[in-house]
Amino acid sequence: MSPTRVRRILSSEIERLTPDLVDLLCGSVNDGAALGFLPPLLPESGRHYWLSLQEELVAGSRVLLGAFADDVLIGAGQLALPKWTAMRRRAEIQKLLVARASRGRGVERALMSALHDEALFRHRSLVVLITRRGDPTEQFCRGMGYREDAMVAGDPASERHDVLTLYQDLADPIGTFRPDLVAPRPG
Ligand SMILES: CC(C)(COP(=O)(O)OP(=O)(O)OC[C@H]1O[C@@H](n2cnc3c(N)ncnc32)[C@H](O)[C@@H]1OP(=O)(O)O)[C@@H](O)C(=O)NCCC(=O)NCCS
Repeated sequence: MSPTRVRRILSSEIERLTPDLVDLLCGSVNDGAALGFLPPLLPESGRHYWLSLQEELVAGSRVLLGAFADDVLIGAGQLALPKWTAMRRRAEIQKLLVARASRGRGVERALMSALHDEALFRHRSLVVLITRRGDPTEQFCRGMGYREDAMVAGDPASERHDVLTLYQDLADPIGTFRPDLVAPRPG
C-alpha cells in the first residue's frame, strides 16, 4: 500500500483535480454523509462547488488539503478562516472526505493532523468542527480531544467569552411562523 501524503491544494490546481474532487464529494453526499448538500448531488453541482472555492483560496480565507497516494487524490479536507478580528483565533474544519476504497486506513486522521498544523501555523488555535450527532466523526473527534461544551472565543489579548448558539425555526408552525412575512416562491 502506498504511503499517504497530505499537502495543500492550490487554487491553480483545482481545475485539474476537479474530477477527483467531484467524485469524492458526490460519492459521499449521495451515500448520505452530512456535508451541507442534499442528495442527489449531481457532478455539475459538485464541479460548481469546487470551482467556487478558488477565490477564497487565493484570498487566504480558506485552506484546502488533499491526501494523495501515488499522486492520486484519495481524500480532502478544508479549513475556513473567519476574517473578523474577534475570530482571528478560530478555524473551522469542513468537508472531510476520503475515497471509499481508501477508508479505514488512517487517511482522515492524517488530514485532521495536517489541518491542525495548518491552523496552528496561522495562530488559529481554536478549531471548530460541526458534524451530525452520532456520526463516526463525532467519536473520532472526541478521541482527538474535541469538546462539546460552550466554546471560548475571541482574541487572547481581549476579554474572552463563552459563545452560545441561539436558534429558532421561523418556519416552525408551532412557534413564530408568520406566513404574511414569507415572500411567494418564484414561478
Ligand atoms: C468519515 C471519513 C472521513 C473517515 O475517513 P477514514 O480515512 O476512513 O478514517 P480513518 O481511517 O482515518 O479513521 C479515523 C477514525 O475514525 C474511525 N472511523 C472511521 N470511519 C468509521 C466508521 N464508519 N465507523 C466507526 N468509526 C469510524 C476510525 O476507527 C478511526 O479511529 P481510530 O484512529 O481511533 O481507530 C470517511 O468515512 C468519509 O469520507 N465519509 C464520508 C464523508 C463524511 O462523512 N465526512 C465527515 C463529515 S464531518
